[in-house]
Amino acid sequence: MSTHADSKPWTVPALADAKREGRKLVMLTAYDNSFARVMDANGVDLVLIGDSLGMVVQGHDSTLPVTVDDIAYHTRVVARGLTRALLVSDLPFQSDATPERALDAATALLQAGAEMVKLEGAGHKLDVIRFLVERDIPVCAHLGLTPQSVLKFGGYRVQGRGEAAAAQLRDDARAVAEAGAQMLVLECVPSSLAAAITADIAIPTIGIGAGPGCDGQVLVLHDFLGLDTGHRRPKFVKDFLADGGSVAGAVRAYADAVRSGAFPDDAHSY
Ligand code: KIV
Repeated sequence: MSTHADSKPWTVPALADAKREGRKLVMLTAYDNSFARVMDANGVDLVLIGDSLGMVVQGHDSTLPVTVDDIAYHTRVVARGLTRALLVSDLPFQSDATPERALDAATALLQAGAEMVKLEGAGHKLDVIRFLVERDIPVCAHLGLTPQSVLKFGGYRVQGRGEAAAAQLRDDARAVAEAGAQMLVLECVPSSLAAAITADIAIPTIGIGAGPGCDGQVLVLHDFLGLDTGHRRPKFVKDFLADGGSVAGAVRAYADAVRSGAFPDDAHSY
C-alpha cells in the first residue's frame, strides 16, 4: 500500500495529491506534546487540535466554552512534538462568526504553530472561508454533525438522513470546496452520502462516523484509547488500545486499519 514517505513532512498541497493517488489520510486529535510525538512517529498524517478538548480535557458538556486562547495553548504544545504530521487547529465557537474575527483567531493559531484551521458549517461561513483563503490561511471545512451547533440540533445526532437533508449536505460540500477549503471533515453522516460527497469534490474528505468511503479518517484521542470521558460513546468509536497493546501500537493499528480500509467497518458506520 502506498503511503506518504516516512520522513517527508506533510504540506497542504500534498493533501490533494493523496486524494488523487488514492492514499488514505490518517488523522487523530491530540492535546499535548507526548501524545503528539507518539502520533508523529507512528504513521499519523494529520493532527487536529479539536475543540473536543472542551469535553475530553476540560470536562464540559459541549465544545461551546472553548476559547481561542485554549486552542492556541494546545496548538503550541503539540506543534513542538511534530516533525512530519500536518497540524490543524479548530476555530472555536463564534471565533469565526465574521470574516474579521476569524482572521484574528486564525492568525493567532497559525502563529502558535497550526498549518490549517478548521471551521464548522457552510451558509454565512462561505464568506469566512473565502476571506481566510484569500489571505493565505488554509481552511478545513466541517459538515454533518457540527458540535458547535448542538443547541440548534438538540443533541448529537446523525445528520443528512432523508432526501432533502442529504441534498443540502451535498450542496454545502460543493460550496465549501468552491469557496476554497482544502479539506472537509464529515461527521456522523450515512456512509452512502459521505461516499457520494467524496466522489463529488476534488478536496479530501475526512470521516468521523461517516463510513469507509471518505478519503481519510479522524478519531478523538480519548475515544480511540477507550477512555471513559463521561460522555456517551458513539457507534463509530473503536478502542484501538485493546488491539494495539500500547499507545504506539494503538496508533499503528489505527493507521494500518485506515490505510487498508478495514476501519471503519459497518459496525462503526451509519
Ligand atoms: O473537535 C474535534 O475533535 C473535531 C473532530 C471530532 C473532527 O472536530
